[in-house]
Amino acid sequence: MAFRLVIALIGVSVATIPLSPAEVQAHRMRMISTEMLESQVEDALASKELRAAARAAKSLAPILAAEERYWDKTGLSDALSYARRNRQAAARLAEATRHGELGEASAELDAMRANCVACHGSHPENRTVTGR
Ligand code: HEC
Repeated sequence: MAFRLVIALIGVSVATIPLSPAEVQAHRMRMISTEMLESQVEDALASKELRAAARAAKSLAPILAAEERYWDKTGLSDALSYARRNRQAAARLAEATRHGELGEASAELDAMRANCVACHGSHPENRTVTGR
């Protein structure tokens, strides 16, 4: 019985590493940058400025990679999968803009947006464990 409890506690501590307030704050700042860059991509695609869209899409890569690490740390597998799909869509978006594929870039932008909406709707912020 005690053995099982120990195993269960180890399981919990591995799955949910507490986030510090600084980490949560950094995540919120990344979200604001993501929103800004996403709307830059949108504007650039609307005016067919593929080079500007490529620049903005490229800037998203390290931000979304950091988001993926953040959600990995929380142990929330649904959020992690949204974050991963978001990063992958942004990478394909950057690739499409580099190759001048406007339709493909727009489709990836839509795919990215669907992940923003799905993740926000699942409210992972209410399921994270925060520490000091
Ligand atoms: C893996 C989940 C996830 C994905 C994917 C995601 N977000 Fe978020 N976002 C959050 C959470 C959670 C919050 C609430 C902040 C918090 O953690 O308390 C948030 C908050 C925000 C905010 C408000 C930030 C603030 O504090 O003012 C903006 C803007 C935002 N997201 C934009 C985006 C955009 C744009 C995308 C898609 C390109 C996106 N997010 C994708 C989880 C996600």
